[in-house]
Amino acid sequence: MSTGHLELSGVGIDFPSPKGPFTALQDVNLKIEKGEFVSLIGHSGCGKSTVLNIVAGLHQATTGGAILDGKEVNEPGPERAVVFQNHSLLPWLSVYKNVELAVKQTSNGRSKAEMKDWVHHNLELVHMTHALDKLPSEISGGMKQRVGIARALAMEPKVLLMDEPFGALDALTRAHLQDSLMEIHAELGNTVIMITHDVDEAVLLSDRIVMMTNGPAATIGEILDVKLDRPRDRLALADNPEYNHYRHEVLTFLYEKQKKVESVDKHKKKEESSEKVVTDQTDSNAA
Ligand SMILES: Nc1ncnc2c1ncn2[C@@H]1O[C@H](COP(=O)(O)OP(=O)(O)OP(=O)(O)O)[C@@H](O)[C@H]1O
Ligand SMILES: [Mg+2]
Repeated sequence: MSTGHLELSGVGIDFPSPKGPFTALQDVNLKIEKGEFVSLIGHSGCGKSTVLNIVAGLHQATTGGAILDGKEVNEPGPERAVVFQNHSLLPWLSVYKNVELAVKQTSNGRSKAEMKDWVHHNLELVHMTHALDKLPSEISGGMKQRVGIARALAMEPKVLLMDEPFGALDALTRAHLQDSLMEIHAELGNTVIMITHDVDEAVLLSDRIVMMTNGPAATIGEILDVKLDRPRDRLALADNPEYNHYRHEVLTFLYEKQKKVESVDKHKKKEESSEKVVTDQTDSNAA
């Protein structure tokens, strides 16, 4: 068989540590089709960001690697845009300029007028054209996140990589952005890999949920196919038995099969009953 659109094969990574190499990932294998929406879920520290960073080209795998459309990924590239949890807008540039800068970097021969239209179009997708001249410090966290998404989309990436894009947002803003992301994905058909700690978010958005085992030497434990029709409506799904079945599968994986023995954060109460995976947000995403 030919290789897929995006393929991770035999991916492993060792990080240096004072006690010798620390194997964070081992033998991660995953094939993703064009246009597929894949979520990565797993306990804190298992290696989700590391997987994403390897696809982004920010980390180099120790064994194996990622192949996108037949080409090995060795460095970052504009065809793989990343949205980080801690919206990384440039604070001295306006909303408009932040997106424009990314468009300029992809340099696909647009005239000045076409460029302007394109920046507008992408900010329209995330409903942010009302704040073109605002600085990041003048808009809310949810708005910054939307601008970050617009910036990534404006680069017309083949693959959109999102590391807990809505993690820091309140529930209402989060729901709103999830809906926008579903609309955008339906319209553009990009391939999306999204890390989340939120089981409902994973089921609502994904075609497949990739569930990772706990580290060290973490790998893919199970993959769940989510065969819910699109477009998906969160309210209608709330009491849909199929939806609840998928949810249950993910919760079972996380809290039974991969139950975390030690608390990841001694200051935080273990949230067994909650639908979110216990997180340790002290470690940051790749710079
Ligand atoms: N640059 C690095 N150097 C050394 N160890 C690292 C490095 N990056 C990650 N690790 C380790 O690799 C493991 C996986 O980290 P990673 O950030 O991928 O986890 P994660 O699943 O994204 O966690 P979280 O849900 O908390 O964001 C952790 O044990 C982490 O400490
Ligand atoms: Mg992470």
